[in-house]
Amino acid sequence: MLVNSKEMLEKAKKGHYAVPHFNINDLEWTKYILEKCNELNVPVILGVSDGAGKYMGGYNAIYGMVTGLIKDLNITIPVCLHVDHGCTETCKKALEAGFTSVMIDASKYELDENIRITKEIVDLAHAKGATVEAEVGHIGGTEDNITSDVFYATLEECERLYNETGIDSIAPALGSVHGFYKGEPNLNFERMALINEKLPIPLVLHGGSGIPNEKIEKAIECGISKINVNTELQASWSKAVREFLNTDDKAYDPRKVIGSGEKAMKQTIEDKVKLFKTVL
Ligand code: 13P
Repeated sequence: MLVNSKEMLEKAKKGHYAVPHFNINDLEWTKYILEKCNELNVPVILGVSDGAGKYMGGYNAIYGMVTGLIKDLNITIPVCLHVDHGCTETCKKALEAGFTSVMIDASKYELDENIRITKEIVDLAHAKGATVEAEVGHIGGTEDNITSDVFYATLEECERLYNETGIDSIAPALGSVHGFYKGEPNLNFERMALINEKLPIPLVLHGGSGIPNEKIEKAIECGISKINVNTELQASWSKAVREFLNTDDKAYDPRKVIGSGEKAMKQTIEDKVKLFKTVL
């Protein structure tokens, strides 16, 4: 069932576990994620970055693909279809197409401007029954081929962003980065716990790939209710596909080539769900 993120994330915040957000890139990835999460009986958030949105042909195509798969595969878990790091224009297009959730990322602007942009999207999304995540501070690293530095969010910034916009969840940048880490991630757990205590909405951790398991467990203890994973899925899928192509130089059927990464990708999904202690 396609739902917004409200109930699943509020349950996670109360239950001290995290809901997985997996980025999707094509039909096969979407199918593997839905099948595995349905088998494990856990809710899931399908994240679509601006780049992946363009790659898959646009938001109407993605909405049709996801709702079609939910129906044809008899998927019974709650599924949230979410824009990942959207700008105003992409959030509007996705909401128009039927997405149930968006992340408006205006974190590159000064706080007042971030609040103004976020509030506009909150008003639009809430009128359609969709939920909104926003970012404050700045999550560094590389996503969609854009690289940037980390800026840690403060409690005051988080309070203003929440109080002045009415967002449903917040991604405070606290040291995580997109892509693999150079060295150990330096997460500010103390501030994470403080923000979680002061704000009534669920906290989101971006850059979930490459963080050691103990640090993921600690982040969940400190109140993280949603964890975004992209790079580790890409890495496990492409490693398996590369091995397959190296051992079978006569393979040419795209279903066999793409499908050779299914098992490895589903294993990564299962490992993350277990680590995040996700339940329905
Ligand atoms: P990783 O690519 O580091 O897993 O981060 C994903 C993410 O945060 C998407 O918003």
